[in-house]
Amino acid sequence: MSIPFTGMHPDYRPRRLRQNPAIRKMVRETRLSAEQLVLPLFARRGSKLRNPVKSMPGVFQLSPDEILKTAREAYALGVPAVLLFGIPEKKDEKASDAYARNGIVAQTARLLKKELPELLVIADVCLCEYMSHGHCGIVKKGRSGVIIENDSSLKLLARAALSYAEAGADIIAPSDMMDGRVAAIRKALDTDGFQNTPIMSYAAKFSSAFYGPFRDAAESAPKFGDRRSYQMDAANAAEALREVALDIQEGADIVMVKPGLAYLDLVYRVKSTFGYPTAIYSVSGEYSMMKAAALQGWIDERAIVMESLLGMRRAGADILITYSATDAARWLKG
Ligand code: PBG
Repeated sequence: MSIPFTGMHPDYRPRRLRQNPAIRKMVRETRLSAEQLVLPLFARRGSKLRNPVKSMPGVFQLSPDEILKTAREAYALGVPAVLLFGIPEKKDEKASDAYARNGIVAQTARLLKKELPELLVIADVCLCEYMSHGHCGIVKKGRSGVIIENDSSLKLLARAALSYAEAGADIIAPSDMMDGRVAAIRKALDTDGFQNTPIMSYAAKFSSAFYGPFRDAAESAPKFGDRRSYQMDAANAAEALREVALDIQEGADIVMVKPGLAYLDLVYRVKSTFGYPTAIYSVSGEYSMMKAAALQGWIDERAIVMESLLGMRRAGADILITYSATDAARWLKG
């Protein structure tokens, strides 16, 4: 936000507005509410299954029935949406479970929409959890080494998106970072009668060490190489704006910046440049750092989580994706 500045009173004392808690509250510029939160969840086949994720204390791989319980609890506290990831029973070279009719995410989405229809189900679309090699696209081994094939991957991503929409997902969220995937998914959705299903694209997604714990949770670490040939270089901001522009042109309805705290400059620039609904993903590594320090008694978890979320809102994010969503909603209640 730019401040039209006309010059302050020579004895302007900002503290005047801080003396009285009611005044302080009245002049607060940024508000945080549970309505803005999204809780990511990891679905895995089975029942009554709660596998703790070692590097993310408080986070579990959950069977669909347990996802329902966890989602109910979050929803009851005011969290309107969950973001679903799947851990398939079998991984292969064509990510079959990502788009199988009864794949783990499709199955979980169906259950959630049947039992808790008001809850928004956001389906993450990517191939890494479903590929035996752990990359986000189809891998071709060529003379010059391993390459991730962009265009053939789009077909699988579109199929996955379609299967989640058919299962009732309210929002489709592609996180793979292949070029052209938003257009491919938009076209597939429109062709099959899902013109009204929005796409929230992971538009500026950086290649980041902050995803480490997630790859434990989703069992999706690449078996060789890394994701630098498709995810963004942490040094690039102008490129992030181009990525966002491209996704908007291709039909994204909501754009995302990811990770969160280390990329708040981009949240600010994306929101002020495009004015689109903007999401931020406070990723696994951010959660784990805060959690670990809190468990040591070194920081006050509640205060730090709330301050971080407020910072993301101040930067311009409309939607906050965080593993602390349920806790934050509870804390917001008082
Ligand atoms: C899938 C995906 C990842 C995350 C969200 N979707 C992992 C990755 O790209 O390696 C990371 C989320 C987190 O760290 O919390 N591509």
